[in-house]
Amino acid sequence: MRCSKTAWAFTTLGLGNGLAQAASTLFAGGTIVAFDKDTESLKVIRDGSVLVTDDRIAAVSEDAAPENLPNGTTKVDVTGQIITPGFVDTHRHGWQTAFKTIASNTTLAEYIGRYGEFAAAASFEPEDVYLGQLTGLYESLNGGVTTTLDHAHHTWSNETAYAGLNASIESGARVFWAYAFHNVTSLNYTIADQFPNFRDIAESAPFRGTPTELGVSFDYWGPNPNVPEAQHIVDIIREYNVSVLTTHTVGGPWGYDNLPSDLHAFGILNDTVPVVFSHASFITANDVQLLRSSGQYISITPESEMHYGHTHPHSYIIQDQAALGIDTHFTFSADILTQARIWLQHARYHFFDEVLSQWNIASRNPMSVNQAFLLATRAGGQALRRDDIGVIAEGAKADLVVWDANNSPSLLGWVDPVAAVMLHASVGDVLHVLVDGKFAKRDGKLVAPNYADVRKRFLKSAKKIQDTWRQMPYPPAEGEWSSGAPYEAPRIADVVSGEGNGYGQQFLD
Ligand SMILES: *[C@@H]1O[C@H](CO)[C@@H](O)[C@H](O)[C@H]1NC(C)=O
Ligand SMILES: *[C@@H]1O[C@H](CO)[C@@H](O)[C@H](O)[C@H]1NC(C)=O
Ligand SMILES: *[C@@H]1O[C@H](CO)[C@@H](O)[C@H](O)[C@H]1NC(C)=O
Ligand SMILES: *[C@@H]1O[C@H](CO)[C@@H](O)[C@H](O)[C@H]1NC(C)=O
Ligand SMILES: *[C@@H]1O[C@H](CO)[C@@H](O)[C@H](O)[C@H]1NC(C)=O
Ligand SMILES: *[C@@H]1O[C@H](CO)[C@@H](O)[C@H](O)[C@H]1NC(C)=O
Ligand SMILES: *[C@@H]1O[C@H](CO)[C@@H](O)[C@H](O)[C@H]1NC(C)=O
Ligand SMILES: *[C@@H]1O[C@H](CO)[C@@H](O)[C@H](O)[C@H]1NC(C)=O
Ligand SMILES: [Zn+2]
Repeated sequence: MRCSKTAWAFTTLGLGNGLAQAASTLFAGGTIVAFDKDTESLKVIRDGSVLVTDDRIAAVSEDAAPENLPNGTTKVDVTGQIITPGFVDTHRHGWQTAFKTIASNTTLAEYIGRYGEFAAAASFEPEDVYLGQLTGLYESLNGGVTTTLDHAHHTWSNETAYAGLNASIESGARVFWAYAFHNVTSLNYTIADQFPNFRDIAESAPFRGTPTELGVSFDYWGPNPNVPEAQHIVDIIREYNVSVLTTHTVGGPWGYDNLPSDLHAFGILNDTVPVVFSHASFITANDVQLLRSSGQYISITPESEMHYGHTHPHSYIIQDQAALGIDTHFTFSADILTQARIWLQHARYHFFDEVLSQWNIASRNPMSVNQAFLLATRAGGQALRRDDIGVIAEGAKADLVVWDANNSPSLLGWVDPVAAVMLHASVGDVLHVLVDGKFAKRDGKLVAPNYADVRKRFLKSAKKIQDTWRQMPYPPAEGEWSSGAPYEAPRIADVVSGEGNGYGQQFLD
């Protein structure tokens, strides 16, 4: 990373070489949480500046008022504020926003039977998918998430596929939109039908020239894959050289293994395409070795894994090959800051507990805010094999968050900007968000064009969806799960003294 007191290296950016005039913005005077590629570590620059030219960070400077700026540079005064890279979310299903608050105490078994891709297919029109995806991405942008790997399993018809893709593009977020191949038997829309739809999308490439990129998601690598079918998926991934492949890795009693070894059997683990294994609950030691030797990543979705109960028994010791994700945001936070904070404190609990369970006293703190910050930013870029995402460094994508460190009551008195963000800030303190050099949020407000109209249409769609779900019987949780594992009733928390336990009801009417 180049940090200079005076001149900028414009030549490397091709400025002044006769191309159309580039647009530049200088964020001047802030505390910058930059990234030093030589030492692979965060570097804090106080009272510095970040120059953005088009979609890239043109320079990072220790000088708040550098000289020789490109002609016509717009200046944004961020004196006293904190500038960080945008957060990277490596696992998400954006279409689900309409379910918001109706599943506050759901479980994974219930989710699959009631809210998942197959349960929802028949009731979501393209308009519902479009609005869920768009408002869901806006929610994350508002919280400073600039990149989202969307496991897009709203591919129930050609039209719903395009609807979610269109919304991803329109959102302005950096979306790795990973087309899900799955047999939607209720609608007679099978994987065989999806190949031509995928080819249409890949070849017409409506995302070209936008921050959205094409990926693939597929959840049937193992156990017992349909070998020719999975091979066909591998072939199409290679044919179109997609930006990412992602899969749900939830083994153990759940049975959705999709382990690194399952993908390795198809030769797609150690190829040029990045693979993101979501959750990695019940991953094996051997599979973690495969991850390391192929440079692939897991996506830890802390709130999801605790909320639904598929947990993350080994993720604490795979953090060198891990990034963070959100998952089904309709029933918890849609920002990576919350995920990172929950994960940091949970990992601390875990490592402390290893010591305490021996009746010993921990001599130091096992995980730092610096590490949580890297997981939320740089590691997400690495999972996508993108050195230019999740970092503030010259040449990186201009995906930035400016935190209102001057005015937020939560941040009063901060000195360490990383601790200020990771432990004290909230999404309400996100003042500006830039994706690809463009404002997605400015002065505390989403820039979203047509937000008023989108909001109105979304509320109508959400009411329709929620009315439908209110009439829908809950799936029985008796006998055995599809894997053969028996159901068991967990202990119910008791939060009141005397009669009852305080569990209460959901307030849905
Ligand atoms: C910037 O503007 C000055 C004065 O108008 C001009 O002399 C110079 O060539 C311009 N530089 C670039 C890179 O366009
Ligand atoms: C997606 O966007 C394209 C281009 O604007 C449009 O032609 C198409 O109808 C849209 N599809 C859906 C399902 O909204
Ligand atoms: C999808 O359906 C086809 C046709 O019935 C079948 O051969 C294939 O195994 C199914 N794949 C999955 C992942 O269910
Ligand atoms: C399902 O679609 C296939 C063609 O893709 C067609 O041959 C078949 O009749 C359809 N089945 C139903 C029940 O609609
Ligand atoms: C879906 O799109 C594919 C590719 O264009 C096309 O062949 C197929 O007929 C479409 N399916 C429907 C039901 O329109
Ligand atoms: C696939 O794309 C990546 C970058 O997106 C590139 O580095 C790689 O060379 C491409 N592979 C092929 C086979 O085209
Ligand atoms: C992946 O490929 C690299 C070299 O290309 C090799 O060093 C490594 O052992 C391979 N890993 C696996 C799991 O095959
Ligand atoms: C959620 O809470 C309701 C009470 O409001 C209860 O009837 C239901 O069984 C709970 N669902 C789950 C999946 O725990
Ligand atoms: Zn998921």
